[in-house]
This record gives sequence, C-alpha cells and structure tokens, in this order.
Amino acid sequence: MEERISHIRTEALTELQPVASAADLDNFRIKYLSRSGVIAGLFEDMKSAAPESRPALGKAINELRAAVQGLFDEKKNALESSARPTTAPLDLTLPGRERWVGSKHPITQTLDEIKRLFTAMGFSLAEGPEIEDDEHNFEALNFPPDHPARDMQDTFFIAENILLRTHTSPVQIRVMESQKPPVRVIVPGRVYRNEAISARSYCLFHQVEGLYVDKGVTFSELKGTLLSFAKQFYGSSIKYRFRPSFFPFTEPSAEMDITCFLCNGKGCRVCKQTGWLEILGCGMVHPNVFRHVSYDPEVYTGYAFGMGIERIAMLRFGIDDIRILYDNDIRFLHQF
Ligand code: DAH
Repeated sequence: MEERISHIRTEALTELQPVASAADLDNFRIKYLSRSGVIAGLFEDMKSAAPESRPALGKAINELRAAVQGLFDEKKNALESSARPTTAPLDLTLPGRERWVGSKHPITQTLDEIKRLFTAMGFSLAEGPEIEDDEHNFEALNFPPDHPARDMQDTFFIAENILLRTHTSPVQIRVMESQKPPVRVIVPGRVYRNEAISARSYCLFHQVEGLYVDKGVTFSELKGTLLSFAKQFYGSSIKYRFRPSFFPFTEPSAEMDITCFLCNGKGCRVCKQTGWLEILGCGMVHPNVFRHVSYDPEVYTGYAFGMGIERIAMLRFGIDDIRILYDNDIRFLHQF
C-alpha cells in the first residue's frame, strides 16, 4: 500500500502541472480530493490492512492529502490571479467623458466687465464693510436724522445705529476719511434692503459706486466719463440723457438714461414703451459731505455715481427673475 500512496503522489503531481483552466482544476479536485476521490479511497482501503500497520499508513495518507491539497490551492490562486485582468480593458469606441467646466456667475461677469472699463480709465478699486453704522450709511452722506430721504431705502437694522448697508455710498466716506485728494475709486459690493421679495427686487443686490475728487472736477467730466463707460459697455450707437434727480449727498443730482438696447429705443416691454432705460444715479459731491470728511469744499470738487448690477446683468443675459440669481441652481448657472 505504501507503494500505491507514493505512486498516487507522483500521478497527482504530473496531472496537476499542466492544468490551465478552472474546469480542469475542478476535475482534478473531484478525482483526488473529493469524498469519493482517490485519496478518500486510500482511507477506505486502509481499513483492510493489518491493524499494526494502520497508524503508519494513516499518517502517510494524511501527508499525501495535505501535500495534494497544498498544491491544489497554489494552482487555484495562480489561475485566479492570472484570470483577473490588472487593467480595465480599453474600449476605444466609447465616447469621451465630458468634463464640466466651471463658469463665472452672471453677476461676477458683469462686475468684472465694469471694473475692467473703469480701471482702464484710471479708477482704482476700494471696498468697505457690509455691516455699517448709521453715521457712514446716512449721517455723513447728508441724510439728517428723520429726513424723509431715509425712507427711500428700507433698512435692515442689526442694533441701534448698526445696519446692513443699503448702498455702497458709505464707502465714499470711508475712502475720503482715510486718504487725501485726489481720489478716484470705484466700489463694487453687496448691499441690502428690506423690500418685499419679487421677480424684480430681492433683499440683497450689488452696486458699483464711483467717486472722483480733485481740484476743479466738473459736471462735464462726470458726463464724459459716464458716456465713455456706457458706450463701451452697452454699445457705441446708444443715445443718452441726463435727467435732474435728487440724492442727499450730491448737488446737483442726476439720473442717466440710455436708449433701450433691447428695442433700440422703439419701445418695448422692458423699457415700458418709453425707449429709455435708467442705468445710474450721479451728481456733484455735496459740500456737506466734504465737510464731514474735512475736505475743504472751497478747494475741492468731485463727482459720484452709483449703479445697480442685477438689473444690468438681467437685461444683458435675458434673465427675467432676480431671485434665480441667488438660488444657486446648477442648471441655471451652467448656462453662463
Ligand atoms: N446710493 C444711491 C442709491 O443706492 C445711488 C447713487 C446715486 C450713488 C447718486 C451715487 C450718486 O454715488 O451720486 O440709490
């Protein structure tokens, strides 16, 4: 029987060597290692051997089984790892993966363009806090307490005399407090108003403020600068007009209209059939404002202007509801 055991060992080894498929390997397992296999058969045969030789035979058969099982396991691992591809197969017929390219928000695009045009005309950028005090937002801009002009802007108050700025004009004061003339800045920024939210108005929006102060600055310079801006921004064929207006911090004050660039001045829904679009407020800096920041109004003159960005962006991009600018809906943002 010892001879048979060693014969089976050689036979199993020779048979296992060329096995290259899972099916052949399974056949091998059934032949040698299963309950009805060759090795199980050896244990059966052992029962009829002489009782004193059984322990040695049992040991030899166990060793055989362990050896064959070990080689079988090795082969199985080798087959499995070679069957598993190390890289995904290349399918050259698949379409390429589309990459999402981020884009700037329409408000940012509009602000960038306005900044570009004014910095090219010699303006630098200034910023100020969105949480302001009454002093800068109203008082220093010549809104006396209880002045009805304060009602023009519905204010979010945070504490007594502390508020969310209702316009970027307070930055005029901050800039003049911190530097001597000449001053030539634009101030892009967020402003807040406690208004009923609708398709046309939101509780926050953006403005760009402008301020130019020096000796001998005139109203015609204001008109020239704004016209140059408007022609570059809205198109060189636009017509314009300045209408008298009122702001506490400018005197005289005006509003600038341009011909509606959607209907070319013929009259449409957007310009309410007037052919004109109001684009900004402006004027010559009020002497009281200069006094507040200790600029001598006998020596210096200046102009200021302010424009809302949302309306401009909505007209340019054909957006008809201001709220959608603040939804952060990727389906909307992706279009710009
Ligand atoms: N601050 C004004 C507003 O929010 C806009 C404005 C008008 C700014 C005239 C100016 C200006 O600098 O001169 O309604």
